[in-house]
Amino acid sequence: MEKKKTKGGSSMKILAIETSCDETCAAVTEGTKILSNVVWSQVALHKEFGGVVPSIAKRAHEEKIDWVINKALVTDVDAIAVTAGPGLAIALEVGIKKAKGLAQEWDKPLISVNHIEGHVLSGLTPEVRFPALALVVSGGHTELIWVEKIGRYKIVARTMDDALGEALDKAARMLGLGYPGGAELEKKAALGNPKKYPLPLPMAGKEKNLAFSYSGLKTAFYRLTNAQRSELSSQEVNDLAASFQETAFKHLLRETKNSIAFYTSPHPSPIIGEGVRGRGIHDLLVGGGVAANTKLREEIKRLSDEVGMGVYFPAKGMYGDNAAMIGIAAGFRAERGEFTDPDTIDRRPRWRVDEN
Ligand code: KG4
Ligand code: ZN
Repeated sequence: MEKKKTKGGSSMKILAIETSCDETCAAVTEGTKILSNVVWSQVALHKEFGGVVPSIAKRAHEEKIDWVINKALVTDVDAIAVTAGPGLAIALEVGIKKAKGLAQEWDKPLISVNHIEGHVLSGLTPEVRFPALALVVSGGHTELIWVEKIGRYKIVARTMDDALGEALDKAARMLGLGYPGGAELEKKAALGNPKKYPLPLPMAGKEKNLAFSYSGLKTAFYRLTNAQRSELSSQEVNDLAASFQETAFKHLLRETKNSIAFYTSPHPSPIIGEGVRGRGIHDLLVGGGVAANTKLREEIKRLSDEVGMGVYFPAKGMYGDNAAMIGIAAGFRAERGEFTDPDTIDRRPRWRVDEN
């Protein structure tokens, strides 16, 4: 297959707004160039609830949106982009209302962007070769996406219940660690023995169904932590964290490897449409907050070496939710002439990345 270089997106300067979950974000991008990237995290507001509370998120977005936009606006812009979904409906609404208002007030085109597409493109460089396989792992999403080219996606596998980040956060909570727990769990896991507590590998025996599932693992972990009679020692916490993380990542890596095998093997498969089978994957793209985990990145790198593919991770500050990735995706949409009518733009809480 030919090795095409990615074009740099549109040369429009775009103000991008992102309010799909618990980060209020604005950025200005020009093609794949990031001119500013401002993130106001609401984590402290949701901490005591152990998860994102939609009504609190909405109010905080309303309070902070003008501040992040003013800080991000380092130059005049040619278009406004906004995350229209997927995400929390009442949170998405805040960004959409703002973007629509600015587009009308400044008489600029409006571009609605899929949040997952933003994560897919967050590690994009001109070297990435397509088709590629994207792995998006965050607090809300665990998806493998076949990227035929920028703008053409097919979901290969997604979670049937919890997202990986959500599962890590819940496991961390069971161990009495802070919220969000993914990063805390990583620190403890680095000091523990991952083989100490064997846990059931999700979807064992169902390797042909490309999908993720983390709820069974979470339940098993709950039983395991409850079964410890006395208060956990710090070494036990470390070993439990390491064991949970190890099994959770093993499942992720196994499904990723199976997906690569399905997409690169020329043999017929009942699982994936024949239209894409055997059409290949050249490189891996990784995005989402959980990919900030060093151990996970090492394992993905090892897999990419094993299958002979390149792997592209986001730059620091681009793993978690941000508006720069929305601006980058919007640049490609603008290049394709995909603009949105401000009179009809609407939130799309369940927008799949493979839907227009
Ligand atoms: O992408 P993100 O910031 O927001 C969502 O769209 O959800 O991802 C947040 C998730 C949380 O579950 C958090 O625990 C997890 O990413 N996370 C990590 C690490 N840093 C953040 N998980 C594992 N290891 C980390 N170092
Ligand atoms: Zn996200």
